Amino acid sequence: MKTLSLMMPLDMHLHLRDEEMLKIVAPLTSYSFSGAIVMPNLVPPVTTLEGVKEYRHRIKEAMEADDFEPYMTLFYQHYSREFLESARDHITAVKIYPSGATTNSEGGVVNFDIEPMRETLEAMSDLGIVLCVHGETMGFVMDREAEFMSVYEMLAVNFPKLKIIMEHITTREAVETLDKYENLYATITVHHLMITLDDVAGGMLRPHLFCKPIAKRPHDRDALLKIALAAHPKVMFGSDSAPHPKHKKESCGCGAGVFTAPIALQLLCEIFEENNALENLQAFVSDNAQRIYGVCPEYKEVVLVKRDFTVPQMYGEVVPMRAGEILRWSIERVD
Ligand code: NCD
Ligand code: ZN
Repeated sequence: MKTLSLMMPLDMHLHLRDEEMLKIVAPLTSYSFSGAIVMPNLVPPVTTLEGVKEYRHRIKEAMEADDFEPYMTLFYQHYSREFLESARDHITAVKIYPSGATTNSEGGVVNFDIEPMRETLEAMSDLGIVLCVHGETMGFVMDREAEFMSVYEMLAVNFPKLKIIMEHITTREAVETLDKYENLYATITVHHLMITLDDVAGGMLRPHLFCKPIAKRPHDRDALLKIALAAHPKVMFGSDSAPHPKHKKESCGCGAGVFTAPIALQLLCEIFEENNALENLQAFVSDNAQRIYGVCPEYKEVVLVKRDFTVPQMYGEVVPMRAGEILRWSIERVD
């Protein structure tokens, strides 16, 4: 039977939430990943050093494995250089959201004028703290990411030593922008490699595929696939796995987020195999991220086998993507 070994998989964009939800989802990621960039969009968001330390502690407690590192982030607001110096050893990145762009982003920035952000971003740049960006304007939903490209360009030019991650890119425009500036990098989710807006809303509405940024057109998905399958050196896997309770998804006013944590590696194997690119999966799920972020993850070897796996209907109160469907690859063991 065909097998594939992945060394130290990393999820460079992950929502773990808190309390009961954290207890459900944290072990699902720590089982098969060596580390993850943990998003700070809790309610209220993580903005203090104490908040970071306490959240990390709660994550560690909720994991069922010791060989997993939660790379912590702060929710962007104005931070002084002095504060960032004190936070530097406890965080990997700062995540910036446009206010209201997605789940729990109300405290984000209202506009991206450079001058008010200069002190914080210059200090981050000097201290080697990465900037993760949710790149959407408040324009028409299908155009929001493409319209945001001018903000990425402005950030890249003004802070040339700052590592800027274009999170969960979904468009051809983002793929093109990536190569224009040395200090731009990107994460790509597994669902955006598979679906387009048609899968979300082309037939009966599928709330479990509704996320921000919304899935786009076939040519956008193809552009993402091309760089992911080639393990473009500036691109990393980031699931953006974002659990919401079933009743909040299957409701009027469905929250944005697709839950993929327990099936991400299996789906990636399927996609990379179908496209004859399995040899590049290691770089996409770990090596590129290690190099870009300069992290040395805990040892973990995940052995996948080409054997059918039926996705559970629920994990706790969360419905995963592809619930009840059969995937072609399973996780055989983790060493
Ligand atoms: C995320 C969430 O639920 O926290 N939702 C989503 O649709 N991706 C937030 C985010 O990353 O946009
Ligand atoms: Zn996210």
